Amino acid sequence: MLVLGIDVSTTATKAVLIDEHGAVVGIGVAEYGYEVPQPGWSEQDPQLWWTGGQAAIRGALSAAGVDATAVAAVGLTGQMHGAVLLDAADRVVRPAILWNDQRTTRECQLIRDAVGAQRLIEITGNDALTGFTAPKLVWVRDHEPDAWAATKHVLLPKDYLRLCLTGEHAMDKADGSGTILFDLAARDWSPEVLDALRIARDLMPPTFEGPVVAGAVSTAAAAATGLVAGTPVVAGGGDQAANAVGVGAVAPGVVALSLGTSGVVFASTTEPLHEEHGRVHAFCHAVPGRWHMMSVMLSAAGSLRWFRDALAPGVDFGELVAPAVDVTAAGGGLFFLPYLTGERSPHPDPDARGAFVGLDVTHDRRHMTRAVLEGVAFGLRDGLELMVDAGMPRPSQIRASGGGVASPLWRQILADTLQAEIALPSTTEGAAFGAALLGAVGAGWYSSVDDACRALVSAQPAAEPGPAAAEYAQHYMDYVKLYPALAPWFHRRAG
Ligand code: XUL
Repeated sequence: MLVLGIDVSTTATKAVLIDEHGAVVGIGVAEYGYEVPQPGWSEQDPQLWWTGGQAAIRGALSAAGVDATAVAAVGLTGQMHGAVLLDAADRVVRPAILWNDQRTTRECQLIRDAVGAQRLIEITGNDALTGFTAPKLVWVRDHEPDAWAATKHVLLPKDYLRLCLTGEHAMDKADGSGTILFDLAARDWSPEVLDALRIARDLMPPTFEGPVVAGAVSTAAAAATGLVAGTPVVAGGGDQAANAVGVGAVAPGVVALSLGTSGVVFASTTEPLHEEHGRVHAFCHAVPGRWHMMSVMLSAAGSLRWFRDALAPGVDFGELVAPAVDVTAAGGGLFFLPYLTGERSPHPDPDARGAFVGLDVTHDRRHMTRAVLEGVAFGLRDGLELMVDAGMPRPSQIRASGGGVASPLWRQILADTLQAEIALPSTTEGAAFGAALLGAVGAGWYSSVDDACRALVSAQPAAEPGPAAAEYAQHYMDYVKLYPALAPWFHRRAG
Protein backbone atom coordinates (compact mmCIF):
# COMPACT_ATOMS: atom_id res chain seq x y z
CA MET A 1 0.00 0.00 0.00
CA LEU A 2 0.98 3.65 -0.52
CA VAL A 3 0.18 7.08 0.92
CA LEU A 4 0.07 10.32 -1.05
CA GLY A 5 1.35 13.71 0.19
CA ILE A 6 0.37 16.85 -1.74
CA ASP A 7 2.14 20.22 -1.26
CA VAL A 8 0.35 23.32 -2.64
CA SER A 9 3.34 25.70 -2.73
CA THR A 10 3.64 29.23 -4.12
CA THR A 11 5.34 28.06 -7.31
CA ALA A 12 4.03 24.50 -7.87
CA THR A 13 1.78 21.74 -6.58
CA LYS A 14 3.74 18.56 -5.91
CA ALA A 15 2.32 15.09 -5.24
CA VAL A 16 4.59 12.44 -3.66
CA LEU A 17 3.67 8.75 -3.25
CA ILE A 18 5.53 6.79 -0.56
CA ASP A 19 5.42 3.11 0.31
CA GLU A 20 5.34 1.33 3.72
CA HIS A 21 9.14 1.67 4.01
CA GLY A 22 9.08 5.43 3.43
CA ALA A 23 10.53 5.08 -0.07
CA VAL A 24 9.36 7.67 -2.60
CA VAL A 25 7.84 5.69 -5.50
CA GLY A 26 6.34 8.46 -7.63
CA ILE A 27 6.39 12.26 -7.89
CA GLY A 28 4.20 14.55 -9.99
CA VAL A 29 4.74 18.33 -10.21
CA ALA A 30 2.72 21.11 -11.87
CA GLU A 31 4.29 24.59 -11.85
CA TYR A 32 2.59 27.99 -11.95
CA GLY A 33 3.28 31.63 -11.18
CA TYR A 34 1.76 34.31 -8.97
CA GLU A 35 0.65 37.88 -9.68
CA VAL A 36 2.19 41.08 -8.34
CA PRO A 37 -0.64 43.57 -9.07
CA GLN A 38 1.25 46.35 -7.23
CA PRO A 39 4.75 46.44 -5.69
CA GLY A 40 4.65 44.46 -2.44
CA TRP A 41 1.38 42.71 -3.32
CA SER A 42 1.21 38.98 -4.06
CA GLU A 43 -1.87 37.14 -5.30
CA GLN A 44 -2.76 33.80 -6.88
CA ASP A 45 -5.86 32.33 -8.56
CA PRO A 46 -6.95 29.31 -6.42
CA GLN A 47 -7.98 27.50 -9.59
CA LEU A 48 -4.25 27.03 -10.30
CA TRP A 49 -4.01 24.81 -7.22
CA TRP A 50 -6.84 22.54 -8.36
CA THR A 51 -5.63 22.33 -11.97
CA GLY A 52 -2.08 21.81 -10.65
CA GLY A 53 -3.29 19.27 -8.08
CA GLN A 54 -5.04 17.17 -10.72
CA ALA A 55 -1.94 17.13 -12.95
CA ALA A 56 0.43 16.42 -10.03
CA ILE A 57 -1.71 13.52 -8.71
CA ARG A 58 -2.01 11.95 -12.17
CA GLY A 59 1.75 12.49 -12.66
CA ALA A 60 2.66 10.75 -9.38
CA LEU A 61 0.34 7.78 -10.06
CA SER A 62 1.73 7.33 -13.54
CA ALA A 63 5.39 7.77 -12.43
CA ALA A 64 4.83 5.05 -9.81
CA GLY A 65 3.02 2.87 -12.34
CA VAL A 66 0.43 1.90 -9.73
CA ASP A 67 -3.30 1.55 -9.60
CA ALA A 68 -4.97 4.20 -7.41
CA THR A 69 -6.56 1.43 -5.29
CA ALA A 70 -3.07 1.15 -3.70
CA VAL A 71 -3.44 4.64 -2.15
CA ALA A 72 -4.53 4.16 1.48
CA ALA A 73 -4.79 7.89 2.37
CA VAL A 74 -3.94 11.40 1.21
CA GLY A 75 -2.24 14.10 3.34
CA LEU A 76 -2.29 17.80 2.42
CA THR A 77 0.19 20.60 3.04
CA GLY A 78 0.92 23.96 1.46
CA GLN A 79 1.98 27.59 1.65
CA MET A 80 0.68 29.04 4.92
CA HIS A 81 -1.28 32.21 5.68
CA GLY A 82 -2.89 32.85 2.22
CA ALA A 83 -6.44 34.28 2.41
CA VAL A 84 -8.84 32.32 0.17
CA LEU A 85 -12.34 33.87 0.07
CA LEU A 86 -15.34 31.90 -1.25
CA ASP A 87 -19.03 32.80 -1.67
CA ALA A 88 -22.03 30.71 -0.57
CA ALA A 89 -21.67 28.53 -3.69
CA ASP A 90 -17.91 28.06 -3.04
CA ARG A 91 -17.00 30.34 -5.96
CA VAL A 92 -13.74 32.30 -5.52
CA VAL A 93 -14.66 35.91 -4.60
CA ARG A 94 -11.26 37.50 -5.39
CA PRO A 95 -7.71 36.20 -6.00
CA ALA A 96 -6.08 34.73 -2.88
CA ILE A 97 -3.76 37.14 -1.03
CA LEU A 98 -0.55 35.20 -0.31
CA TRP A 99 1.86 34.82 2.65
CA ASN A 100 4.48 37.07 1.02
CA ASP A 101 2.08 40.00 0.41
CA GLN A 102 3.19 43.14 2.29
CA ARG A 103 0.19 45.50 1.86
CA THR A 104 -1.14 45.26 5.42
CA THR A 105 1.15 47.35 7.67
CA ARG A 106 -1.84 49.59 8.57
CA GLU A 107 -4.12 46.59 9.20
CA CYS A 108 -1.53 45.05 11.56
CA GLN A 109 -1.72 48.19 13.70
CA LEU A 110 -5.55 48.14 13.52
CA ILE A 111 -5.47 44.56 14.85
CA ARG A 112 -3.11 45.48 17.73
CA ASP A 113 -5.41 48.40 18.59
CA ALA A 114 -8.62 46.34 18.36
CA VAL A 115 -7.46 43.32 20.40
CA GLY A 116 -4.77 45.03 22.53
CA ALA A 117 -1.15 44.45 21.51
CA GLN A 118 -0.28 42.41 24.60
CA ARG A 119 -3.60 40.55 24.67
CA LEU A 120 -3.13 39.52 21.03
CA ILE A 121 0.22 37.91 21.91
CA GLU A 122 -1.27 36.28 25.04
CA ILE A 123 -4.11 34.66 23.06
CA THR A 124 -2.53 33.86 19.69
CA GLY A 125 1.16 33.66 20.70
CA ASN A 126 1.97 36.16 17.96
CA ASP A 127 2.15 39.83 17.08
CA ALA A 128 0.23 40.94 13.96
CA LEU A 129 2.63 40.63 10.99
CA THR A 130 1.90 41.39 7.34
CA GLY A 131 2.60 37.75 6.43
CA PHE A 132 -0.30 36.35 8.47
CA THR A 133 -3.93 35.85 7.35
CA ALA A 134 -5.89 38.06 9.77
CA PRO A 135 -4.46 41.37 8.45
CA LYS A 136 -5.38 40.29 4.90
CA LEU A 137 -8.99 39.65 5.95
CA VAL A 138 -9.15 43.05 7.67
CA TRP A 139 -7.76 44.64 4.48
CA VAL A 140 -10.52 43.08 2.33
CA ARG A 141 -13.12 44.02 4.97
CA ASP A 142 -12.03 47.69 4.79
CA HIS A 143 -10.98 48.08 1.13
CA GLU A 144 -13.34 45.76 -0.78
CA PRO A 145 -16.64 45.79 1.13
CA ASP A 146 -18.52 44.08 -1.73
CA ALA A 147 -16.06 41.19 -1.85
CA TRP A 148 -16.21 40.94 1.95
CA ALA A 149 -20.03 40.94 1.97
CA ALA A 150 -20.02 38.10 -0.60
CA THR A 151 -17.52 36.03 1.44
CA LYS A 152 -19.13 33.08 3.23
CA HIS A 153 -16.07 30.83 3.67
CA VAL A 154 -12.42 31.60 4.48
CA LEU A 155 -9.86 28.88 3.72
CA LEU A 156 -6.08 28.55 3.38
CA PRO A 157 -4.51 27.44 0.07
CA LYS A 158 -4.20 23.69 0.73
CA ASP A 159 -7.74 23.70 2.16
CA TYR A 160 -9.06 24.96 -1.17
CA LEU A 161 -7.50 21.85 -2.73
CA ARG A 162 -9.19 19.82 0.05
CA LEU A 163 -12.54 21.39 -0.85
CA CYS A 164 -12.02 20.42 -4.51
CA LEU A 165 -10.97 16.88 -3.52
CA THR A 166 -13.56 16.15 -0.84
CA GLY A 167 -16.27 18.83 -0.90
CA GLU A 168 -15.47 19.62 2.77
CA HIS A 169 -14.62 23.00 4.32
CA ALA A 170 -11.93 22.02 6.82
CA MET A 171 -8.52 23.15 8.09
CA ASP A 172 -5.76 21.66 10.25
CA LYS A 173 -4.72 23.22 13.58
CA ALA A 174 -1.15 24.07 12.49
CA ASP A 175 -2.26 26.17 9.52
CA GLY A 176 -5.27 27.50 11.48
CA SER A 177 -2.96 28.99 14.13
CA GLY A 178 -1.02 30.79 11.35
CA THR A 179 -4.08 32.96 10.70
CA ILE A 180 -3.56 34.52 14.21
CA LEU A 181 -7.31 34.15 14.74
CA PHE A 182 -6.55 31.11 16.93
CA ASP A 183 -6.44 30.65 20.67
CA LEU A 184 -3.03 28.96 20.74
CA ALA A 185 -3.60 27.05 23.99
CA ALA A 186 -7.15 25.94 23.09
CA ARG A 187 -6.05 24.92 19.54
CA ASP A 188 -9.16 26.48 17.96
CA TRP A 189 -10.69 29.79 16.82
CA SER A 190 -10.60 32.60 19.38
CA PRO A 191 -14.06 34.18 19.79
CA GLU A 192 -12.34 37.20 21.41
CA VAL A 193 -10.04 37.91 18.45
CA LEU A 194 -12.75 37.18 15.85
CA ASP A 195 -15.19 39.54 17.61
CA ALA A 196 -12.61 42.31 17.98
CA LEU A 197 -11.88 42.14 14.24
CA ARG A 198 -15.58 41.84 13.28
CA ILE A 199 -15.00 38.52 11.52
CA ALA A 200 -18.00 36.18 11.87
CA ARG A 201 -17.16 32.79 13.42
CA ASP A 202 -19.17 30.95 10.76
CA LEU A 203 -16.81 32.16 8.01
CA MET A 204 -14.14 29.90 9.50
CA PRO A 205 -14.15 26.11 8.92
CA PRO A 206 -13.94 23.38 11.57
CA THR A 207 -10.32 22.52 12.44
CA PHE A 208 -8.71 19.10 12.92
CA GLU A 209 -5.45 17.66 14.21
CA GLY A 210 -2.94 16.87 11.42
CA PRO A 211 -3.35 13.06 11.11
CA VAL A 212 -7.15 13.06 11.59
CA VAL A 213 -9.30 12.08 8.58
CA ALA A 214 -11.27 15.20 7.58
CA GLY A 215 -12.97 14.00 4.40
CA ALA A 216 -12.81 11.51 1.55
CA VAL A 217 -12.16 11.86 -2.20
CA SER A 218 -15.50 12.64 -3.90
CA THR A 219 -16.78 10.90 -7.02
CA ALA A 220 -16.22 14.06 -9.09
CA ALA A 221 -12.65 14.47 -7.75
CA ALA A 222 -11.94 10.80 -8.39
CA ALA A 223 -12.87 11.31 -12.05
CA ALA A 224 -10.67 14.43 -12.22
CA THR A 225 -7.56 13.00 -10.49
CA GLY A 226 -7.54 9.24 -11.06
CA LEU A 227 -7.82 8.62 -7.28
CA VAL A 228 -10.46 6.22 -5.96
CA ALA A 229 -13.67 7.77 -4.55
CA GLY A 230 -13.78 7.32 -0.78
CA THR A 231 -9.97 7.49 -0.25
CA PRO A 232 -9.53 9.21 3.16
CA VAL A 233 -7.93 12.68 3.22
CA VAL A 234 -6.29 13.73 6.51
CA ALA A 235 -6.17 17.32 7.76
CA GLY A 236 -2.39 17.64 7.16
CA GLY A 237 -0.49 20.81 8.09
CA GLY A 238 1.00 24.08 6.89
CA ASP A 239 4.26 23.61 4.97
CA GLN A 240 6.57 24.35 7.89
CA ALA A 241 4.83 21.95 10.29
CA ALA A 242 4.59 19.24 7.62
CA ASN A 243 8.26 19.73 6.71
CA ALA A 244 9.14 19.26 10.40
CA VAL A 245 7.21 15.96 10.38
CA GLY A 246 9.03 14.98 7.16
CA VAL A 247 12.45 15.47 8.79
CA GLY A 248 11.37 13.96 12.14
CA ALA A 249 11.40 17.22 14.18
CA VAL A 250 8.30 16.30 16.18
CA ALA A 251 9.47 16.46 19.81
CA PRO A 252 11.57 18.90 21.89
CA GLY A 253 15.33 18.49 21.43
CA VAL A 254 15.33 17.97 17.64
CA VAL A 255 15.06 21.22 15.71
CA ALA A 256 14.39 21.57 11.96
CA LEU A 257 16.38 24.13 9.97
CA SER A 258 15.36 24.93 6.44
CA LEU A 259 18.08 26.80 4.54
CA GLY A 260 16.42 27.81 1.29
CA THR A 261 15.86 31.34 -0.04
CA SER A 262 14.43 31.98 3.42
CA GLY A 263 15.81 30.39 6.59
CA VAL A 264 13.47 28.80 9.10
CA VAL A 265 14.34 27.45 12.56
CA PHE A 266 11.48 25.25 13.79
CA ALA A 267 11.32 23.84 17.32
CA SER A 268 8.59 21.54 18.72
CA THR A 269 7.21 22.18 22.20
CA THR A 270 4.88 20.24 24.49
CA GLU A 271 3.26 23.46 25.76
CA PRO A 272 1.95 26.57 23.99
CA LEU A 273 5.13 28.62 24.61
CA HIS A 274 5.52 32.03 23.04
CA GLU A 275 8.12 34.79 23.01
CA GLU A 276 6.89 37.74 25.08
CA HIS A 277 7.05 40.30 22.24
CA GLY A 278 5.99 37.86 19.50
CA ARG A 279 9.42 38.14 17.83
CA VAL A 280 9.31 34.45 16.83
CA HIS A 281 6.13 32.75 15.63
CA ALA A 282 4.25 30.39 17.99
CA PHE A 283 1.84 27.98 16.26
CA CYS A 284 0.23 24.56 16.76
CA HIS A 285 2.27 21.64 15.40
CA ALA A 286 0.79 19.13 12.95
CA VAL A 287 1.39 16.61 15.77
CA PRO A 288 -1.69 16.34 18.05
CA GLY A 289 -1.21 18.09 21.39
CA ARG A 290 2.12 19.71 20.43
CA TRP A 291 3.05 23.23 19.48
CA HIS A 292 6.09 24.83 17.92
CA MET A 293 8.01 28.05 17.78
CA MET A 294 9.60 29.19 14.56
CA SER A 295 11.82 32.01 13.37
CA VAL A 296 11.65 33.05 9.72
CA MET A 297 14.64 34.85 8.16
CA LEU A 298 13.67 36.22 4.75
CA SER A 299 17.08 36.08 2.97
CA ALA A 300 19.14 33.05 4.03
CA ALA A 301 20.51 31.13 1.03
CA GLY A 302 18.90 34.09 -0.81
CA SER A 303 21.72 36.26 0.62
CA LEU A 304 24.39 33.97 -0.84
CA ARG A 305 22.59 33.93 -4.20
CA TRP A 306 22.44 37.76 -4.21
CA PHE A 307 26.16 37.96 -3.33
CA ARG A 308 27.09 35.50 -6.08
CA ASP A 309 24.90 37.21 -8.70
CA ALA A 310 26.12 40.71 -7.75
CA LEU A 311 29.85 40.04 -7.24
CA ALA A 312 30.67 36.75 -8.97
CA PRO A 313 28.04 36.25 -11.68
CA GLY A 314 28.10 32.82 -13.25
CA VAL A 315 30.41 31.34 -10.58
CA ASP A 316 29.27 27.99 -9.24
CA PHE A 317 28.33 28.07 -5.50
CA GLY A 318 30.89 25.35 -4.68
CA GLU A 319 33.65 27.38 -6.39
CA LEU A 320 32.54 30.58 -4.63
CA VAL A 321 32.46 29.04 -1.15
CA ALA A 322 35.54 26.71 -1.24
CA PRO A 323 38.24 29.46 -0.85
CA ALA A 324 36.38 30.90 2.17
CA VAL A 325 37.55 27.85 4.18
CA ASP A 326 41.02 29.43 4.37
CA VAL A 327 40.05 32.74 6.01
CA THR A 328 39.58 33.19 9.74
CA ALA A 329 36.19 33.26 11.44
CA ALA A 330 34.58 36.72 11.16
CA GLY A 331 37.48 37.67 8.79
CA GLY A 332 39.22 39.86 11.34
CA GLY A 333 36.08 41.78 12.23
CA LEU A 334 34.02 41.65 9.02
CA PHE A 335 30.26 41.17 9.48
CA PHE A 336 27.36 40.78 7.06
CA LEU A 337 23.74 41.60 7.96
CA PRO A 338 21.35 39.44 5.92
CA TYR A 339 18.33 41.81 5.83
CA LEU A 340 18.37 42.27 2.04
CA THR A 341 14.57 42.02 1.70
CA GLY A 342 13.67 43.37 5.13
CA GLU A 343 13.26 40.87 7.98
CA ARG A 344 10.58 38.93 9.90
CA SER A 345 12.37 37.26 12.87
CA PRO A 346 13.74 38.47 15.17
CA HIS A 347 13.31 41.99 13.76
CA PRO A 348 9.84 42.31 12.19
CA ASP A 349 11.03 45.18 9.99
CA PRO A 350 10.19 45.46 6.27
CA ASP A 351 12.61 48.43 6.04
CA ALA A 352 15.70 46.63 7.42
CA ARG A 353 18.48 46.27 4.84
CA GLY A 354 21.67 44.27 4.37
CA ALA A 355 25.15 45.55 5.21
CA PHE A 356 28.84 44.63 5.28
CA VAL A 357 30.34 46.17 8.40
CA GLY A 358 34.07 46.33 9.15
CA LEU A 359 35.54 46.11 5.61
CA ASP A 360 39.25 47.00 5.34
CA VAL A 361 41.89 46.80 2.61
CA THR A 362 42.97 43.28 3.61
CA HIS A 363 39.55 41.82 2.78
CA ASP A 364 38.77 40.14 -0.54
CA ARG A 365 35.96 38.02 -1.97
CA ARG A 366 36.82 35.07 0.31
CA HIS A 367 36.30 37.12 3.46
CA MET A 368 33.05 38.58 2.13
CA THR A 369 31.75 35.13 1.16
CA ARG A 370 32.53 33.80 4.61
CA ALA A 371 30.90 36.85 6.21
CA VAL A 372 27.68 36.10 4.25
CA LEU A 373 27.64 32.47 5.48
CA GLU A 374 28.33 33.63 9.04
CA GLY A 375 25.83 36.51 8.97
CA VAL A 376 23.04 34.10 7.99
CA ALA A 377 24.13 31.71 10.77
CA PHE A 378 24.15 34.57 13.33
CA GLY A 379 20.67 35.65 12.18
CA LEU A 380 19.41 32.07 12.63
CA ARG A 381 20.99 32.01 16.09
CA ASP A 382 19.01 35.18 16.94
CA GLY A 383 15.81 33.18 16.39
CA LEU A 384 17.07 30.15 18.31
CA GLU A 385 18.11 32.27 21.33
CA LEU A 386 14.65 33.87 21.55
CA MET A 387 13.08 30.41 21.60
CA VAL A 388 15.46 29.23 24.32
CA ASP A 389 14.65 32.36 26.34
CA ALA A 390 10.94 31.52 25.91
CA GLY A 391 11.48 28.12 27.56
CA MET A 392 12.43 25.80 24.69
CA PRO A 393 15.17 23.29 25.62
CA ARG A 394 18.45 23.95 23.76
CA PRO A 395 18.55 21.45 20.86
CA SER A 396 21.07 18.63 20.73
CA GLN A 397 20.46 18.04 17.03
CA ILE A 398 19.38 20.29 14.16
CA ARG A 399 18.03 18.56 11.07
CA ALA A 400 18.94 20.79 8.17
CA SER A 401 17.46 20.75 4.68
CA GLY A 402 17.33 23.09 1.66
CA GLY A 403 19.86 24.13 -0.98
CA GLY A 404 22.29 25.79 1.49
CA VAL A 405 23.13 22.57 3.34
CA ALA A 406 25.03 21.26 0.30
CA SER A 407 28.02 23.34 1.53
CA PRO A 408 30.21 21.51 4.12
CA LEU A 409 31.67 24.88 5.24
CA TRP A 410 28.20 26.35 5.84
CA ARG A 411 27.18 23.21 7.78
CA GLN A 412 30.29 23.60 9.98
CA ILE A 413 29.63 27.32 10.55
CA LEU A 414 26.03 26.45 11.51
CA ALA A 415 27.16 23.73 13.96
CA ASP A 416 29.69 26.15 15.53
CA THR A 417 27.30 29.10 15.70
CA LEU A 418 24.15 27.25 16.79
CA GLN A 419 26.22 24.94 19.05
CA ALA A 420 24.43 21.76 18.02
CA GLU A 421 25.04 18.78 15.77
CA ILE A 422 23.86 19.41 12.20
CA ALA A 423 22.28 16.29 10.68
CA LEU A 424 20.95 15.70 7.16
CA PRO A 425 17.55 13.95 6.96
CA SER A 426 17.05 10.86 4.81
CA THR A 427 14.45 12.48 2.56
CA THR A 428 14.58 15.66 0.51
CA GLU A 429 10.83 15.80 -0.21
CA GLY A 430 10.19 17.92 2.90
CA ALA A 431 6.61 19.07 3.38
CA ALA A 432 5.01 16.66 0.87
CA PHE A 433 6.78 13.74 2.59
CA GLY A 434 5.57 14.96 5.99
CA ALA A 435 2.00 15.25 4.66
CA ALA A 436 2.26 11.65 3.40
CA LEU A 437 3.43 10.56 6.90
CA LEU A 438 0.37 12.26 8.43
CA GLY A 439 -1.66 10.28 5.87
CA ALA A 440 0.07 7.07 7.01
CA VAL A 441 -1.06 7.73 10.59
CA GLY A 442 -4.61 8.54 9.36
CA ALA A 443 -4.60 5.27 7.39
CA GLY A 444 -3.81 3.38 10.61
CA TRP A 445 -0.29 2.28 9.60
CA TYR A 446 1.03 3.90 12.83
CA SER A 447 -0.66 4.84 16.06
CA SER A 448 1.14 8.21 16.32
CA VAL A 449 3.16 10.70 14.31
CA ASP A 450 6.17 9.92 16.58
CA ASP A 451 5.92 6.23 15.61
CA ALA A 452 5.64 7.08 11.91
CA CYS A 453 8.75 9.32 12.13
CA ARG A 454 10.71 6.72 14.12
CA ALA A 455 9.92 4.10 11.48
CA LEU A 456 10.28 6.11 8.27
CA VAL A 457 12.66 9.07 8.90
CA SER A 458 16.34 9.03 9.76
CA ALA A 459 19.17 11.59 9.74
CA GLN A 460 22.93 11.36 9.29
CA PRO A 461 25.23 13.59 11.39
CA ALA A 462 27.03 16.04 9.08
CA ALA A 463 28.83 18.51 11.41
CA GLU A 464 29.63 18.83 15.13
CA PRO A 465 30.49 22.03 17.02
CA GLY A 466 34.29 22.40 16.73
CA PRO A 467 37.09 24.64 18.04
CA ALA A 468 35.67 27.76 16.33
CA ALA A 469 32.46 27.59 18.42
CA ALA A 470 33.93 29.68 21.27
CA GLU A 471 35.19 32.32 18.83
CA TYR A 472 31.78 32.51 17.12
CA ALA A 473 30.12 32.94 20.52
CA GLN A 474 32.31 36.09 20.95
CA HIS A 475 31.57 37.41 17.44
CA TYR A 476 27.85 36.85 17.97
CA MET A 477 27.96 39.29 20.90
CA ASP A 478 29.17 41.97 18.45
CA TYR A 479 26.74 40.92 15.69
CA VAL A 480 23.67 41.48 17.90
CA LYS A 481 24.66 45.15 18.41
CA LEU A 482 24.63 45.93 14.67
CA TYR A 483 20.89 45.91 13.86
CA PRO A 484 19.93 48.26 16.76
CA ALA A 485 22.77 50.60 15.72
CA LEU A 486 21.69 50.70 12.06
CA ALA A 487 17.89 50.56 12.48
CA PRO A 488 17.39 54.36 12.83
CA TRP A 489 19.18 54.85 9.52
CA PHE A 490 17.12 52.08 7.81
CA HIS A 491 13.97 53.88 8.92
CA ARG A 492 15.14 57.36 7.89
CA ARG A 493 16.07 55.94 4.50
CA ALA A 494 12.58 54.41 4.08
CA GLY A 495 11.03 57.76 5.03
C1 XUL B 1 5.73 30.49 7.15
C2 XUL B 1 5.66 31.14 5.81
C3 XUL B 1 6.22 30.43 4.66
C4 XUL B 1 5.13 30.03 3.73
C5 XUL B 1 5.81 29.63 2.43
O1 XUL B 1 5.33 31.34 8.17
O2 XUL B 1 5.20 32.23 5.65
O3 XUL B 1 6.95 29.30 5.03
O4 XUL B 1 4.37 29.04 4.32
O5 XUL B 1 5.33 28.59 1.80
